[in-house]
Amino acid sequence: MTAIRIEGLHKSYGGFEAVHDVGFTARPGSVVGLLGPNGAGKSTTLHVLLGLAAADAGSATFGGRPYADLEHPSRVVGALLDAGGLHPGRTGRDHLRVLATAARLPARRVDEVLDLVGMTPAAQRRVRTYSLGMKQRLGIAAALLGRPEVLVLDEPANGLDPAGMRWLRELLRSFAADGGTVLLASHVLAEVAQVADALVVVGQGRVVADGPLDDLVADRSLEDVYLDVTATTEGVR
Ligand SMILES: Nc1ncnc2c1ncn2[C@@H]1O[C@H](COP(=O)(O)OP(=O)(O)OP(=O)(O)O)[C@@H](O)[C@H]1O
Ligand SMILES: [Mg+2]
Repeated sequence: MTAIRIEGLHKSYGGFEAVHDVGFTARPGSVVGLLGPNGAGKSTTLHVLLGLAAADAGSATFGGRPYADLEHPSRVVGALLDAGGLHPGRTGRDHLRVLATAARLPARRVDEVLDLVGMTPAAQRRVRTYSLGMKQRLGIAAALLGRPEVLVLDEPANGLDPAGMRWLRELLRSFAADGGTVLLASHVLAEVAQVADALVVVGQGRVVADGPLDDLVADRSLEDVYLDVTATTEGVR
């Protein structure tokens, strides 16, 4: 199975350093929460990891290889970045068919993932008629298409109702129980604390706490750590 390893990562936009010396590992069989307030550098870290932005320094790899070097990326990594970027006139099923074809995956896998995310009843509807939560489920279906070993999810619970959030937690727990690696970025402490084995807390582009969830909670109230980092970044950007 495939681990995610990020080491000494730096990324600036213009003169602004969005990510400063970020490093952590997400091991197979675990859910790692990347927690931080708005603007902390979570999405930037994920963009570099997925080859959508170039690092200024450091490395971000899957099983030792950068995303761009993966032979069959969709079989290694499934990603959900944001629920936008969907063709509004396409049906949910057609959206997944296009992705499956591009990744050379069998069409029947589309129906499997639609079922996995509970979207079979809405599969023939156009994406423009979907609620935010339905778009999020479709995005998760897309991430699962290639039966990846790793899931990289940016704020996947956005728009999900309580039942949807519970469903997502169970999905991620069972993915990790099967040996998969999950990296989950969120700005909501309660959301990640309920599903993660380990947390990487970031603020202003830096890692401020990192470790098994139980240790972080035992060491000092996780809520205090997160409140501190949130307070120091409030109003900065
Ligand atoms: N393409 C870009 N160009 C310029 N600045 C950027 C770009 N992407 C991100 N930034 C800046 O980098 C910082 C980190 O942004 P990032 O999106 O990584 O934060 P985040 O932790 O994902 O926040 P959120 O919780 O709001 O999603 C922010 O100050 C943001 O304005
Ligand atoms: Mg973000």
